[in-house]
Amino acid sequence: MSLLEMNNIVKCFGPVKALDGVSITLEAGEVLSLCGENGSGKSTLMKVLCGIYPDGDYQGTIHYKGQQIRPTGIADTEALGIAIIHQELTLVKELSILENLFLGAELTKYGFMDFELMHYEAEILLKKVKLNVSPETKVGDLGVGQQQLVEIAKALSKNAKLLVLDEPTAPLTESETQILLDLVMELRETGVSCIYISHKLGEVKAISDHICVIRDGKHIGTRAASEMTTDDIITMMVGRAMTQLFPREEHDIGDVVLEVKNVNAWDKANSSIPKVKNASFSLKKGEILGVSGLVGAGRTELMECLYGCYLGKYSGEFYLEGKALAINSSKDALQLGIAMVPEDRKRHGIIPIMGVGENITLAGIDQFQKFGLLDDSKEASAILDSIDKLTVKTPNAELPIKNLSGGNQQKAILARFLMVSPEVLILDEPTRGIDVGAKYEIYKLMFQLVKKGISIIMISSELPEVLGISDRVLVMHEGVIKGDLINQNLTQEIVMDCALSEGAVA
Ligand SMILES: Nc1ncnc2c1ncn2[C@@H]1O[C@H](COP(=O)(O)OP(=O)(O)OP(=O)(O)O)[C@@H](O)[C@H]1O
Ligand SMILES: [Mg+2]
Repeated sequence: MSLLEMNNIVKCFGPVKALDGVSITLEAGEVLSLCGENGSGKSTLMKVLCGIYPDGDYQGTIHYKGQQIRPTGIADTEALGIAIIHQELTLVKELSILENLFLGAELTKYGFMDFELMHYEAEILLKKVKLNVSPETKVGDLGVGQQQLVEIAKALSKNAKLLVLDEPTAPLTESETQILLDLVMELRETGVSCIYISHKLGEVKAISDHICVIRDGKHIGTRAASEMTTDDIITMMVGRAMTQLFPREEHDIGDVVLEVKNVNAWDKANSSIPKVKNASFSLKKGEILGVSGLVGAGRTELMECLYGCYLGKYSGEFYLEGKALAINSSKDALQLGIAMVPEDRKRHGIIPIMGVGENITLAGIDQFQKFGLLDDSKEASAILDSIDKLTVKTPNAELPIKNLSGGNQQKAILARFLMVSPEVLILDEPTRGIDVGAKYEIYKLMFQLVKKGISIIMISSELPEVLGISDRVLVMHEGVIKGDLINQNLTQEIVMDCALSEGAVA
């Protein structure tokens, strides 16, 4: 008897058939990965499983431990021992880790909250996910990667038999990712099954027993992971072979446009902890500057200072074409020609209930104004053009952006900042959670931009991407720029060695 069988699931959103007869089977102690392009239906299938779309909202059947189940909400599936960690983090940022872990399931003694016990349990859970912070820390003060680990700790606290992880490692660093993958393997040893969704195919290969590929809501195939190469997975996902992942194009690099000097920044919550230490770098016209390093290296903080949106204490000098800049807000920065696509698009990016189109034109709306009036048709055609160029998968531009798949929301936000045609474009983890085909489109777009003379700073935790796309690479470690390396004959090893070396390398 299989642990889980989902049979012939069909789920429509109005005219959109998000799932068109998908079936999966999962054994106890098995890791099954779901792969597919953005919008192929992976998250939808998991939302059917956990009752977010209840019985009657979909066709097909779900059997768990041999019994047909018709979950009508998370509570039902949790009671069965199924824990799902969604693509969008659901922690309450204002509450502490402890409060989040036991939210709605507080431990009590004689009818009173037993804080001592909860603290004790929380410490054990945090140790399990190797998160070395106090349970009293406010979740909002944690990095995205650390928040993800708290989500996982929360699932562990419920003693799940089946763990569903939807893009768990997108915001994680390599070491955090390793902790998570090890955890999944440990749990598997104890008989816990896992459905794993990720666009990082290397990871998928490493931890799966079986891999199931979905394309446009249809089940393309499920095979043993040991029989598939990542190229096989890609071919099944996109329906054709992809010979090249990084479409590098020749482009001219001009003189220095941006200079950043002596930036120091301190922790938002505790201004005695330095986050960026005396960082200086320059950026040339038409250059793609990759910024590599582990999460927590200070990359985002450094760029937030430049973009005028760092919330902690900081100092530093910024020059654009030789002119000293006074940037006190992102609005100032945008006006001066510096744009930044943030890392945490959920928090700083989308306006969920607004349409896809409105989300795209949000920052560049001025260009469609004429004598104080909005030129609707010009705006509409620019929106369609963006949707087309970035292959944002949406039935129309009016659909609330929250209804798009995770990856497609990100493409829409990228489209927004491309629309303001900045002089300097900062992209913080631009392809996180984006499928291989769409990544390729985004790289191509980046090359189009630099050919037009725009300069790009790309923060990325994926070394193959940094090496595949950048002209030059900054390596940051613990707040210090350790290396400023021309991307010629660079290897992952050189970059890693540089990050961990004593002293700075130029
Ligand atoms: N509430 C909704 N209303 C309308 N369409 C929706 C809704 N939720 C999902 N869809 C559509 O269903 C399709 C499948 O979306 P889903 O989120 O399952 O994709 P995914 O495979 O998880 O993609 P990603 O890799 O980007 O996370 C998409 O075309 C999406 O736009
Ligand atoms: Mg998804």
